[in-house]
Amino acid sequence: MTVYADTRFQNRRRRLASTLAGQRIDAMLVTHLTHVRFLSGFSGSNGAVLVKKDLTALISTDGRYTTQVGEEASDLELISARNCGSALLETLDGPRRVGYEADYVTVSELESLQKACPEGITLVPVTGVIEEIRLVKDEVSLDHLRHVARIAVVAWEELLEAGELRAGRRENEVAADLEYRMRKHGSEHTSFDTIVASGLNSAKPHHGADDTEIQDGDIVTVDFGAHLLGFNSDITRSVIVGHTTDFTKEIYDVVLRAQLAGIDAATPGTALVDVDRACRDIIDEADYGEYFVHSTGHGVGLDVHEAPYASTGGKGVLEPGMTLTIEPGIYVPGKGGVRIEDSLIIRAGAPEIITDTPKELRLV
Ligand code: GLY
Ligand code: MN
Ligand code: MN
Repeated sequence: MTVYADTRFQNRRRRLASTLAGQRIDAMLVTHLTHVRFLSGFSGSNGAVLVKKDLTALISTDGRYTTQVGEEASDLELISARNCGSALLETLDGPRRVGYEADYVTVSELESLQKACPEGITLVPVTGVIEEIRLVKDEVSLDHLRHVARIAVVAWEELLEAGELRAGRRENEVAADLEYRMRKHGSEHTSFDTIVASGLNSAKPHHGADDTEIQDGDIVTVDFGAHLLGFNSDITRSVIVGHTTDFTKEIYDVVLRAQLAGIDAATPGTALVDVDRACRDIIDEADYGEYFVHSTGHGVGLDVHEAPYASTGGKGVLEPGMTLTIEPGIYVPGKGGVRIEDSLIIRAGAPEIITDTPKELRLV
C-alpha cells in the first residue's frame, strides 16, 4: 500500500515553521528518519528534509528512492544526493539561522554539515520541537495505530486458540509463531524483538526469547507488537501454564488491579505522574513496590517508545489524541514475574483501549 502526500504533512510542517519562528530560526534541517517520514511521508532509509519559514520544503534522497519519493512526497522539491543533509544545506544562501536535530546528529555528522554550510549560515541546535508536534495524533494516524494494534491482538488470539502457547514449546518457537501470525495479518515486521519470558525468565522484564522450554506451572509473559506504514503496536499478556500457585495467582491479581487503576486514571487533564502513581500505589500497598522496576507507560506511534511518559518523573498532562501504554509489572528474582500492558488512545472520558483482548488470569 502506498501513502500519497496529503495535507497532514503540510500541516505538520506549518506547525514546525511557526514554532521555529519563535526561536528566530529561518529553516530546519530534519535528518532523523522518523521525522523525515512524519513531515513528508517519505519512508526510505536515506533522506532529509529542509523546511523553510516561508513553508517551502525540499527533500533529499539518493537514486535508490527516486521513484518512491515521487510517490510518497511528490509535493516537495527533490535534491538527489547520498549525503542528504549536506546537499540540502548547499542549496541555501545566507545569512540564515538553520536548526538541526541535536538529539539525533552525531558529532561527526555535525562536522560534515558545518563544512557543507555556505557562507553566512549558522547551524542552531534544536531539541524536542518535532516530538512536541507528534504528541497529539491526528485521526489518520490514530486509525493506523488501531489497525496495527489489531494485527497484534488477532495474532495473539489465534496463537492461544491454536493451543500453541503450551508446555513443551520453546520460548523462541512461540515468538516465531506469533510473529508469523502477525505477518500473515499484514505486519511488515515486529515493532521490537518479541519477548516470551517463561518461568524464572519472567522475572526479567526484557528477557527476550531463548531456547528455554516452557514448563507446567510457569508464568509466560509475552510482550509483542506489529509494525505497519511506520506505526507500531505494543501489548503484553501474561498467562499461566497448567496450574496456578499462591504466588502466581497473587502477583497476577495485584498487577491486573494496578493496570486497571492506571487505565482508569488515564483521562485528559491528568498529570502523567499521577497515572504512574495510580498503578504504583496498588503494587506498593500489596508490598511488591520494590519489584515494580520500571515506569508505568509511554506513548506509542512512529516510535514504540515516545512521549508522553507515565513515570515517577513524568512531565505534563494527558490530552485527547495522545497515546499511552499502561504496563505495570512485578518481577521477583528467583520466583517469577507478571506484566500486563495495553495501549490506549486518550479520549474525553474513558480512554480507548486499542489492544483490547481478555486479560483475566488465563490458564493455557
Ligand atoms: N516492549 C517494551 C515495552 O513494553 O515498553
Ligand atoms: Mn511492550
Ligand atoms: Mn510498552
